[in-house]
This record gives sequence, structure tokens and C-alpha cells, in this order.
Amino acid sequence: MKTVPCTVIAGGFWGDEGKGKVISYLALRDKLDFCVRTGSVNAAHTIWFEGKRYALHMVPGGFVDEKCRLLVGAGANVHVAQFLKEVEETGVKNRIGVDSQASIIEEKHSAQDKASEHLKGLGTTGWGVGPAIEERVRRTAKLAKDVPELKPYLTDVAMETNQAIGAGKKVLLEGTQGLLLSLFHGTYPYVTSRDTSASAICSEAGVGPTKVTQVILVFKSFVTRVGTGPLPGEISKEEAIKRGWFETAAGTGRDRRSAPFSFELARKAATINGATLLAVTKLDRVFPECQGVRAYRQLPIEARQFIERIEDETKVQVSLIGTGPDALDLIDRRD
Ligand code: IMP
Ligand code: MG
Repeated sequence: MKTVPCTVIAGGFWGDEGKGKVISYLALRDKLDFCVRTGSVNAAHTIWFEGKRYALHMVPGGFVDEKCRLLVGAGANVHVAQFLKEVEETGVKNRIGVDSQASIIEEKHSAQDKASEHLKGLGTTGWGVGPAIEERVRRTAKLAKDVPELKPYLTDVAMETNQAIGAGKKVLLEGTQGLLLSLFHGTYPYVTSRDTSASAICSEAGVGPTKVTQVILVFKSFVTRVGTGPLPGEISKEEAIKRGWFETAAGTGRDRRSAPFSFELARKAATINGATLLAVTKLDRVFPECQGVRAYRQLPIEARQFIERIEDETKVQVSLIGTGPDALDLIDRRD
């Protein structure tokens, strides 16, 4: 099933599964009409496009398709300076909108985040998302409509998005982080300050559950996490380097901890997200012979067995498989 009226894309582990890459592939291959970003500035989606690397904290990954309208939902939390900087960098000024009711994350929130021993202990990104959301919950937050620099971008994202879905346009709702960082379903208290599941992504965009036609859940071929909290099967940094799994965070530059793929956690994530299709990224980092392969039958047998085990355990088809950094280094088994 190619991208259909309303697709949600969510992360299955602790974020950094490669959602940015999958989004850019869908935007280039399927052509998206609308891409709606949720979440906040703590998440960085890495996208390689025309030889350039982007680490996007605010602009939706669908920007690579120049016809795609880009939106930031009412449930999102906007960092104004970062937003304006990325709009400039990606050249999307004339096709991006921000919901008037999105809340604003300010410098003071970052200062509060960094000054809190408790938050430091959780290994937050330091952007201040927790304090910004606390303020929203207290109902004292500044909203997008209160910020003069955002005036040219203001829109009603929920209405625009629902109209687009009604008109049969291709809409992608873009989540951030992963299920195990969810405030509700993750490894509390070592989580982020919001729910990160597919339902929450819909809620932040303002799209009802009956409108969603597809939920793409993204897993990486091994598991990583930044910050503190449990990571079953964690290996040492030395071992991660040896296996080619060692990564640093796109947003903060911190070391990512790593562990082998967990089928048990994958099952949980597929269930709670109601996944209809799975994407598995960076297969070439576990099976190096897969580098750049774009046809399933060309994968070595061990790699195919790994993919088939994920399907057996989750009961969901793995239809998109990443085999390299470029947006088009991907095996597409849809249809
Ligand atoms: P906060 O979201 O900055 O409050 O950080 C809470 C936890 O979520 C920390 O463990 C962070 O490392 C983690 N986290 C937040 N955003 C991301 C992300 O985009 N990728 C991976 N981990 C993240
Ligand atoms: Mg990331």
C-alpha cells in the first residue's frame, strides 16, 4: 500500500530509528501533499538530500518534496528561533504553516531544564521541553499567535489537514522520538514529557482515529538510546564501535548507547501503535553486505531471516528496509 490519504509515522524504540529517512523517501517516491510535524525541538530528524545533511528540529521532513505543504500542529511546541532558522535553511517560507495554538518554548525553559538536578538526572536534551509543557499545562504558556515573527505562518492546522484528507490528498503525520520515551507507555520516569505513540501524533495534529489509513512504525536494526534509563541488552561503547553501531545524537552530539534489536519491545511497540506497516532502517549496519541493496531478493539469507522474524513476532509486514544513508537507499516491498 503506497502512501494513502492519512499516514502516521511513529518510532518504535527510544527515538533515532531513522524516521527522517523514511519520511524523505515517502516524500520523494510517493509525493506527499501535506506533512504535519508534531512534538518539539528536542527531536532532530536527520535527512540526507541532494548530498546535504539536514538535522531538522522543527521543519517537517516532507520538505524534500517541493510541492508538499508543511505544517506544525496545535499540539506541537515551537522554538521560534530554531523554526525561523530552519525555514531559511530549507527555503520553505512560502509553504509552511504553524497552528495558532501551538505553544512556544522559550529560553527560560531551557535554563530551567539545565538548572534542574532532577531533569539532569533523566538525561534530558536541555532544550527545555519539559518545563515548556509544564507551563502549557498550567495554562500560562505563550502561543504561536502571540509571537509577531510567526504571524506570516499562522493557520488552523487541524482544519487544513482534515480538509486535505477529505479531498483524498496524501497526508503524513510525523511523530518524534519513540514509544519507549512516551510519557505514558515508555520507561517512566526516563521518558520525554509527552506521549509519543501514533494516537498522540494524531491528537497533536487534530486528526481523529477514524481518519487514519496507515500507521508506519519505524525500527532501527539495533537499538539505541541517549540519556539515562534502562536499555535491555546494552553493550559497551567499545563493543558498539566494533560492531559499527556507535552513533552520536543528531541534536545534542551526545553518545548514543546501544543494544541488539529487541523482538519483545518491537511486539509491544507494534501493538500500542496499531502498526499496519513496519520500516526497518540501517540493515547494512548489522549485515554489512546489505549496503545499498534495493531489492529484497538480493539480501543475504541471514538478513532476510532477521526481517522475517520481526514479521513473525509482530504480525506486521516489514515493507520498507533501509540499506544506506541516502533517502533512496531503501528496499520498498509495498504492493
Ligand atoms: P527531554 O525530551 O529533553 O526532556 O529528554 C527526556 C529524555 O528523552 C532523555 O532521555 C532524552 O535523551 C530523550 N530524548 C528526547 N528527544 C529525543 C530524540 O529526539 N531522540 C532520542 N532521545 C530523545
Ligand atoms: Mg533523532
